Amino acid sequence: MPPRIILLRGCIIAFAIVITGCEEANQSETRSLKDILNQNTERVVRNFDPVQVQRGEIIFQENCENCHGKQAAGTTDWRTPGADGRFPPPPLNGTAHAWHHSTAVLKKTILKGGPPEFSSMPAWEDKLTEQQVDDVVVWIKSLWPDEIYATWYQNFEDK
Ligand code: HEC
Repeated sequence: MPPRIILLRGCIIAFAIVITGCEEANQSETRSLKDILNQNTERVVRNFDPVQVQRGEIIFQENCENCHGKQAAGTTDWRTPGADGRFPPPPLNGTAHAWHHSTAVLKKTILKGGPPEFSSMPAWEDKLTEQQVDDVVVWIKSLWPDEIYATWYQNFEDK
């Protein structure tokens, strides 16, 4: 077989693996979300202080929106690492992974950032106060759909 054809076959196989990989990831994400929505989760009332939510939104717009997108909707291809091997900023609005974490873990992620060799999430501990981080976490939670928030609440707060 001429080398060009071998190369082409290699590319097609690699492409097929990437596509299948993506589909699997999407399916499991969709399935788990559907399962969650099918659960008869009781509505959990979010007694957030509207003033705090508003402060959090401004902190987000000034510091985070350039990476995480408007209304923390992130990038569409946040599951695919870039050329440097780092993942793009994910959505924080309840469609990705942030709601799998406790408040403490979310706060720590924001304060400490990711390991610079693997992640472009900056550390905010020298730039934001703990109160500002609390505010932005509350704003992020205010974006989550009811079912997502209820599931998060059951997993972390309702013990
Ligand atoms: C320079 C781009 C950039 C900025 C600015 C940024 N982030 Fe991130 N953030 C990321 C990336 C990239 C990730 C994915 C983490 C990884 O790859 O390790 C991330 C991850 C996160 C996560 C974890 C999400 C999850 O699904 O577990 C949270 C929470 C978060 N960021 C909040 C914030 C907040 C709040 C701010 C503003 C104070 C902010 N980020 C600013 C790039 C950024």
